Amino acid sequence: MQFRHVQGMEDVLPTDSGRWRRLEAEFHRTMQLAGYGELRTPVLEHTELFKRSIGEVTDIVEKEMYSFQHSREHLTLRPEGTAGAVRAYVQHKVASAEPVSRWYYLGPMFRAERPQRGRLRQFHQLGAESFGDAGPLVDAELIDTLYGMLSRLGVTELDVRINSLGSAETRARYRAALVDHFTPHAAELSATSQERLQKNPLRILDSKAPQDRPLIDAAPSILELLSEEDRAHFEGLQAALTELGTPYTVDPGLVRGLDYYTRTLFEIRSSAGDLGAQNTLLGGGRYDGMVRSLGGPECPAIGFAAGVERLLLALPPSPSPVTPLVFFAPLGAAAQRACLTLARQVRALGHVALVDGRGGSLKSLLRRADGLRAPLCVVVGESELARGEVQLKQLELHQQSSLPLDTAAQQLAALLDVLAAGSAG
Ligand code: HAM
Repeated sequence: MQFRHVQGMEDVLPTDSGRWRRLEAEFHRTMQLAGYGELRTPVLEHTELFKRSIGEVTDIVEKEMYSFQHSREHLTLRPEGTAGAVRAYVQHKVASAEPVSRWYYLGPMFRAERPQRGRLRQFHQLGAESFGDAGPLVDAELIDTLYGMLSRLGVTELDVRINSLGSAETRARYRAALVDHFTPHAAELSATSQERLQKNPLRILDSKAPQDRPLIDAAPSILELLSEEDRAHFEGLQAALTELGTPYTVDPGLVRGLDYYTRTLFEIRSSAGDLGAQNTLLGGGRYDGMVRSLGGPECPAIGFAAGVERLLLALPPSPSPVTPLVFFAPLGAAAQRACLTLARQVRALGHVALVDGRGGSLKSLLRRADGLRAPLCVVVGESELARGEVQLKQLELHQQSSLPLDTAAQQLAALLDVLAAGSAG
């Protein structure tokens, strides 16, 4: 019997993980420069945490959570990172230690969705949460930071959408207005939207069903219902984005699938690359009520999360950089042992060293060095050992020389330094 990975949960092989690492490195750098510190929380949390924060009548909680009971505990593999971050923020009483906290995280998330391009069951998010600042400047700063990161990564055709859902009260009034609008025409709506009308009418605005379009287009706009303060907040966000020169579009139809949002909502999409229908690279917004509702103090917060797999689909293809390395080709058992020591010395000097321990002829060893595109190949046989030296072949240059055994590691490292500097430039 041959096993396969669970549907929608993919392997990342070493041939591909370099792209992941480069993306993650850019993310770490971007967030740290913006004053965010890295948070790591468990992938398992109590099921109740997600129900309370994400909302009972959301797709995630209703049908997408991987939940199970172990002993007497009801546990769920995290479908997103905000709930765990807020749980940690409240549990460790961070609010009383510092007025503003900026956290970022990256890691796997789990949702039992129907897998398709850009939509997985185990996917990875890069995310951040900022606590204690009611905005709107921090909102603009976050959006601008993310826009900058995507641009630096080379993602093109970016489309920034923003909206405001207002305070919890505004949202409740909007919900009532939508029910009034859609109910007389309920029969014309798609089955999913009819269901949403009962449970979560805001989500009707998210519908992709063509038959829902005319009614959605005629629906009241949340922006008409905003209170004075909500409106000032939203205008503050727009003024700051304009000042920063970050392009954006106000999209009153933007609602997003999680229940915790208040005021600022945003998404960044891209039509570049291989994204297909799942072209939302990242989304986020304010959730000014969540810290309180999970047992903490009154505390405004805003955050975002991006899907790593989607970002990778949107990135332009880039050849993986070739790491200069030294390949040791020992001939015989004594030479193999000597090469292990040399390789350890080269690695201690910060360079990649590989020892072929399989034996074989010089020809087959050189072929392997060639396959690895190793610029330096060190051949060691019994006679070289007896003379206290090794033979260096610079494969691309077709050059050959002898190095004394006791300084070989330093000389090899110095050559690799030069090669690395050349490939970085
Ligand atoms: P979300 O919109 O559910 O928000 O997810 C954010 C991003 O994660 C999406 O834009 C998408 O790129 C990626 N994503 C979501 N589901 C999948 C999937 N099944 N397969 C691949 N990628 C996926 C949140 O998770 C919020 N926690 C964001 C947030 C943080 N809001 C405030 N703070």
